[in-house]
Amino acid sequence: MKDKVSAIICAAGKGERAGFSKNKLLAPIYGAPAIWHTLKKFDIPEIDEVVVAASEEDFEEISALCAPFKYSVVKGGQTRTESVKRALAAVSGEIVLIHDGARPFVSRGLILSCIDGVKKFSSAVCAVKLTDTAVIAQLGLVTDRLDRSETFRVQTPQGFYTEDIRRAYGLAGDRVYTDDSAAFCEFIAPARLIDGEESNIKLTFKSDFIRELPLPAAVSGLTGFGVDVHAFGKKQNFIKLCGVEIPCDTGLIAHSDGDVALHAVMDAILSAAGLKDIGHYFPDNDPAFKGADSALLLAQVVEIIGKKGLRVKNVSVAVQAEKPRISAYIDNMVARVASLTGADRGNISITAGTSEGLGFVGEGRGICVYAVATLYEA
Ligand code: CTP
Ligand code: MG
Repeated sequence: MKDKVSAIICAAGKGERAGFSKNKLLAPIYGAPAIWHTLKKFDIPEIDEVVVAASEEDFEEISALCAPFKYSVVKGGQTRTESVKRALAAVSGEIVLIHDGARPFVSRGLILSCIDGVKKFSSAVCAVKLTDTAVIAQLGLVTDRLDRSETFRVQTPQGFYTEDIRRAYGLAGDRVYTDDSAAFCEFIAPARLIDGEESNIKLTFKSDFIRELPLPAAVSGLTGFGVDVHAFGKKQNFIKLCGVEIPCDTGLIAHSDGDVALHAVMDAILSAAGLKDIGHYFPDNDPAFKGADSALLLAQVVEIIGKKGLRVKNVSVAVQAEKPRISAYIDNMVARVASLTGADRGNISITAGTSEGLGFVGEGRGICVYAVATLYEA
């Protein structure tokens, strides 16, 4: 049976170093309290339960923010360590990811690799290599230096088997730590580092709120472009565009079903995700794809990018064809692309035009389709 995965979000601090009149996590970034962005990141199917630690003072406000997500909220303690201990008492998953509420820029991909890391290595602590040289100093004088190649900045999330980290904190008594791997390393085993992300910063000082923050993925997006051409000449009385059959005096020559529009859409999506093109995933010399339904291939492409934590936000398609007339079919094409990509219908646009008699399109020898897709991190 699959292990249940819980997440703890530590939000019970005071945010003193940020110097706002209240907890820094309630200060807005991109129009919503910072903590809301963190909460939203854990609202994914791979996380089964979320427990948030909030201070007495912020309990009501943070509970209200957690309500739509159906997260439970527990009272935190005087130190982060105490807050984590209290939240640990409330989680029911076999695996637990512990995360700072002050790191709203954590990506879905990082959360997923942390869960995978626990399954593979029994612990997974996100960390990034140091780029500056690190030294030890006392009273302003350098007393020692660290080997940069072996020095890391440790972030959250940090994932463990719940019983291990509970045991570690149980044995820790009154000791106070700044992160959870410290207790794990002291009482259980050396914690396993996995690649963190530079963008996963911890909002600590007021300047962290003012400087250019990484855009939330929902705002930023990734864009890709795709184009495809197929020639007329197949003995067939229709063509397929965006999964819709359109009557035509000739079909498009292709190894697959010749849906030139969906091919351009797939390339745009793969390109936005930084992946190779459809020829790589569905080679046109592979008999498995002979006559393949391009709609099924698009569904696979959506699944491939889904594994990278990405979803389709918007698709824009421009068809260049001298024949057949497409306008009557555009609504159906839009609906089909929306259902195949999971994007809202209003975010799919399809335009069509001729080429004024110029070039191979104008001479009626084939169809050319351009597509642009935008993805977001879900
Ligand atoms: N935290 C917590 N309980 C505490 C102290 C901290 O849950 N008693 C949480 C914070 O809300 C934050 C995370 O632990 O999300 C990391 O701590 P830090 O960045 O130090 O936040 P604060 O303690 O709130 O800030 P400061 O130290 O500047 O007061
Ligand atoms: Mg603190």
